[in-house]
Amino acid sequence: MASNGNGTRERYEVREHDVLIVGAGGAGLRAAVSATQRGLSVGIVTKSLLGKAHTVMAEGGMAAALGNVDSDDSWRQHFIDTMRSGKLINNWRMAEIHAKESPDRVYELEQWGALFNRTPEGKISQRPFGGHTRRRLAHVGDRTGLELIRTMQEKALATDAKVYMETTVTKLLKNNGRVVGALAYTRESGKFIHFKAKAVVMATGGWGRIFKVTSNSWEGTGDGVVLSYDAGAELVDMEMMQFHPTGMVWPPGVRGLLVTEGVRGEGGLLRNSEGKRYMENYDAKKMELSTRDVVARANYTEVQEGRGSEHGGVYLDITHLGYEGIMKKLPTMYEQFKNLADIDISREPMEVFPTVHYTMGGVKVEPETCASNVPGLFAAGEVAGGLHGANRLGGNSLSDLLVFGRRAGEGASDYVEQSTHSSEIEEQELLTEIGRVLEPLEKRGDGGESPYLIQQELQAAMMEHANLMRNGDSLEQGLGKILNLKDRLPQVSVPGSRLFNPGWHTAQDIRYLVQISEIILRTALERKERRGAQWRLDYDGPDDDLGAINFIVTKDVQGEVGIERREIPPMPEHLAELIRDEVPDMAGGEKRGAESQF
Ligand code: FUM
Repeated sequence: MASNGNGTRERYEVREHDVLIVGAGGAGLRAAVSATQRGLSVGIVTKSLLGKAHTVMAEGGMAAALGNVDSDDSWRQHFIDTMRSGKLINNWRMAEIHAKESPDRVYELEQWGALFNRTPEGKISQRPFGGHTRRRLAHVGDRTGLELIRTMQEKALATDAKVYMETTVTKLLKNNGRVVGALAYTRESGKFIHFKAKAVVMATGGWGRIFKVTSNSWEGTGDGVVLSYDAGAELVDMEMMQFHPTGMVWPPGVRGLLVTEGVRGEGGLLRNSEGKRYMENYDAKKMELSTRDVVARANYTEVQEGRGSEHGGVYLDITHLGYEGIMKKLPTMYEQFKNLADIDISREPMEVFPTVHYTMGGVKVEPETCASNVPGLFAAGEVAGGLHGANRLGGNSLSDLLVFGRRAGEGASDYVEQSTHSSEIEEQELLTEIGRVLEPLEKRGDGGESPYLIQQELQAAMMEHANLMRNGDSLEQGLGKILNLKDRLPQVSVPGSRLFNPGWHTAQDIRYLVQISEIILRTALERKERRGAQWRLDYDGPDDDLGAINFIVTKDVQGEVGIERREIPPMPEHLAELIRDEVPDMAGGEKRGAESQF
């Protein structure tokens, strides 16, 4: 118990670990396994329940060049496909590590108990996915992410790691420039916990909840990226948000729910209201298996131009597989449409439309160890940026989680073993933060701003101004709306107590949502071109001058969003030659290829 200087006595618990992991999705759990294997004390904090991570929404598979189905696959080909899809602004070293290490992470997962689908010869089966030039996605029907989480949870729970569920981190704590823990509160009781740690691994996933229509569940509010930014971390390419081409559109209550790319991987066809397979107008070569940015824009355009379905989507048809084929390969999709929309997808097409799914940008990390620029802070999985560049390939997320989750766990462990620093914090800093977190409750009855209303207005503004087609004027208007919401944040008040109070939790979330939205709008304004997920209607193509540029965001000394253009270092020759040979139209100074490439 301590005094906060205002006469109020506040109680908080203290918990101490060598490594504190924030987030319990695939990346966080994999990091925990690595750190516990090194004999370190590990705490895993999750604001949700175990098993609820967005990892489960990568349904169709995990990309790895196993070569089980297409024997000519290789890490090189996986690297090339990843870079091509990312429009060459990826962190090439991350893409190299990812392509080389994904196969080991698949086999490791299998050893730990994951039950993959098999080929007739008994190997792990691999299916096609958009933008992958080989059949590469190791899968468990259409619930691969769920199987990954189930397996990793069992593995992590068998270690000595301590899990703190329904616990929300509000601030990273620093001593002498190093991250040395975090302040958090438990959602059930509102009790505060001071976590002391020698290193923190951020693995909180993405921020799809800044949009109304998203595949993300309520947890996707981007806590980790803002906590890291506030602590001084650099962020990279935050303008790059992925719209998955196929979310449900009907009934309204399930709008945005993911329809796995596995449907198209298994031969699903996209048609408009005229019955036409319109992908031939957008990418005649790859058709439905073009990259997500291209297919999402195609679906959006068909609806915009009046060729949409009854409920404002397009048709996705998998009826050729028949009931038995669907139950074998896509059972979750069958149940999802049957139970939620009363549609039998073995007899009639689905209606689908793009849904916000993933964030390519995030905390900038050093590829070998996942260290951020702030000592003691590491990041892995969706919260980290760089690997996927301007557009992620489907299935590269699950392999990303395990490849870089492991590296973050190792990196944090190395750092802890080499450090002798103190994790102490001035008590006043904790009390000030506790006071800030409690503010909305203390204003109750003052007729202040409702956090729900701010959240709704924010999501509407982002849908209108930062959607998958953008233009400068609209982005400016969106920024104005978000800055207005930012000004209103200090007036947020919520009724009730700390106990089971969703309004209070939302009051915490909107701080993150507002900050991320501002950053996205500002970086989207800066990147004046069409590249991958950043599609500016007021520019007619990619800008060669931005072809090797990352936009780096940091909090400047005034506490404002600072944006820097940073040149991507040249690739070493063994990677450059792959790109030169396979992606000649994207390699050098000459005019870039067809628009659909971008
Ligand atoms: O469509 C899907 O199954 C999603 C996969 C992913 O995002 O990697």
